Amino acid sequence: MSDSVVVLHCISKQYHPGVPVLADISWDIPGGARYVILGSSGSGKTTLLSILGLLLRPSAGAIIVGGQDAWQWPERRRAAWRTANLGYVWQDAGLLPELTVVENANLPLHIRRIPRKQWNGSDLLHRVGLGARLRAYPHELSGGEAQRVAIARALAGSPQLVLADEPTGSLQRRQAVEICQLFLELQEELKFGLVVATHNEALVRHLRAEPLWVYDGQLHARSPREGM
Ligand SMILES: Nc1ncnc2c1ncn2[C@@H]1O[C@H](COP(=O)(O)OP(=O)(O)OP(=O)(O)O)[C@@H](O)[C@H]1O
Ligand SMILES: [Mg+2]
Repeated sequence: MSDSVVVLHCISKQYHPGVPVLADISWDIPGGARYVILGSSGSGKTTLLSILGLLLRPSAGAIIVGGQDAWQWPERRRAAWRTANLGYVWQDAGLLPELTVVENANLPLHIRRIPRKQWNGSDLLHRVGLGARLRAYPHELSGGEAQRVAIARALAGSPQLVLADEPTGSLQRRQAVEICQLFLELQEELKFGLVVATHNEALVRHLRAEPLWVYDGQLHARSPREGM
């Protein structure tokens, strides 16, 4: 494991005054780490992941990146850091319907204005078993295939950290296990950190990950059933 990619320092979040969702969370995410964030619906998993992904500003506390508080940066710098260092995978894959599979996978590189000859979306699609479907459109894919494209897209910019919110939530159990296996193989090769938020505790086993539970607004190393 290498140095921390992101450090959360005393993070709190409330969407409405007096209704805390997260309270005073500190968390240091080392490079190459693998975590599964668990918690019941409404406990704050997506909120935590969005804060970690610099998509949502915390109400208090700091997100430290390279020794600096990333919310003190101008938005453009934060956005540039995000696209260069983070990859996102969402429950419903979130592919753009009017783009082909390979265009979807290359989208983060397009946005970063990386020269076209360095685009690796096609290689990654071969790697996730979709090399024969590069010109297909998202509506022609199964749920598991769409999720593979979303993973290729998340990895296209060679991120340090991949954040996945219920990445297997819309899949059958067998497909979910395959997606977890794919994450493990890709992580072995590409060495990114992985944080997966889910209500499904089986993913801890499938991803051989360290579990953390969100409840009472905080992050715990034990499930609420085990107590503190
Ligand atoms: N944009 C928002 N505005 C107001 N309240 C919000 C907003 N987003 C989330 N919340 C509230 O914050 C709490 C945590 O929501 P969050 O989406 O983080 O939970 P979750 O653990 O991801 O739930 P699920 O398992 O259902 O996805 C909930 O009470 C939710 O209603
Ligand atoms: Mg959620």
